[in-house]
Amino acid sequence: MPKPRVFVTRIIPQPGLALVQDFCEAEVWPEELPPSRETLLQKVRGVEGILSLLTDKIDGAVMDAAGPQLKVISNHAVGFDNIVVPDATARKIPVGNTPGILTDATADFAFTLLLAAGRRLVEAAQYVKDGRWKTWGPSVLLGADFVGATLGLVGFGRIGKAVAKRAAGFEMRVIFYDPTAEEDPQIKAEKVNSLEELLRQSDFVSLHTPLNDSTRHLINAVTLAQMKPTAVLVNTARGPVVDQQALYAALKEKRIFAAALDVTDPEPLPPDSPLLTLDNLIVAPHIASASRQTRDKMALLAAQNLIAGLKGERLPHCVNPEVYSR
Ligand code: GLV
Repeated sequence: MPKPRVFVTRIIPQPGLALVQDFCEAEVWPEELPPSRETLLQKVRGVEGILSLLTDKIDGAVMDAAGPQLKVISNHAVGFDNIVVPDATARKIPVGNTPGILTDATADFAFTLLLAAGRRLVEAAQYVKDGRWKTWGPSVLLGADFVGATLGLVGFGRIGKAVAKRAAGFEMRVIFYDPTAEEDPQIKAEKVNSLEELLRQSDFVSLHTPLNDSTRHLINAVTLAQMKPTAVLVNTARGPVVDQQALYAALKEKRIFAAALDVTDPEPLPPDSPLLTLDNLIVAPHIASASRQTRDKMALLAAQNLIAGLKGERLPHCVNPEVYSR
């Protein structure tokens, strides 16, 4: 039996790559940058499976370029806004993602950013490098307090809950806004009924929503104006959840205290972006899940989803299970 042909859009960590190469005849895109649209359309021709990254736009045109034998699309990410899922569902193609295993790494990094932005870590390190550290000063680089502060979570799914657990160790009060989630008896976090209520009460705001039509630019000029002038905003969700022009203005005019973004719109952020001129903003290059073990596990799960789809089995994690109903 010939092995099924697949296209893997980048070199993924070894545990996943080895599994894919064992089961499939895999073409793996070897470059650091993603394949261009044109290359992607050409490389998928005739494959039964695509293992994609969040940087690859996979829509109906890509699926049709692959052809009717395409059995599965496996995304090496928990987020799947890069895939036009209705196009896959219409073609009865299951789409896989990698939930669960990156929850802790992402929550750790969200907390890293809350601390770093609140306590001005990047600015302080630059202050030392610039030779501006002359003496211990009673009012130098003052930042936010955590104990007793209110952390507002926008989104109370797996990652939001994991951030709430970490906040308990810092003796913070946690509130959340999520129309689709209820309070969890295991986690000390109180539900509020509107985003405005959350923003008005919070000293720290951390975003944990998927990107969709209802969350695009959820944080905008109007909602930023509802935040406290001392508030810190952290985004480890998806860049377009924040209107970056509005964020720039709010940070520049010190209408909020600080922000940290692990995700931007676009990615990468152009080096001449005005955002990068702000002292009260930290930008990281989308690395919240980038711990060694987490990335190994993501690659493995993406490979398992791919192989299940190739075998005609149900994917361990499928975002469009309706493809299995008749
Ligand atoms: C990372 O952003 C992911 O969605 O896995």
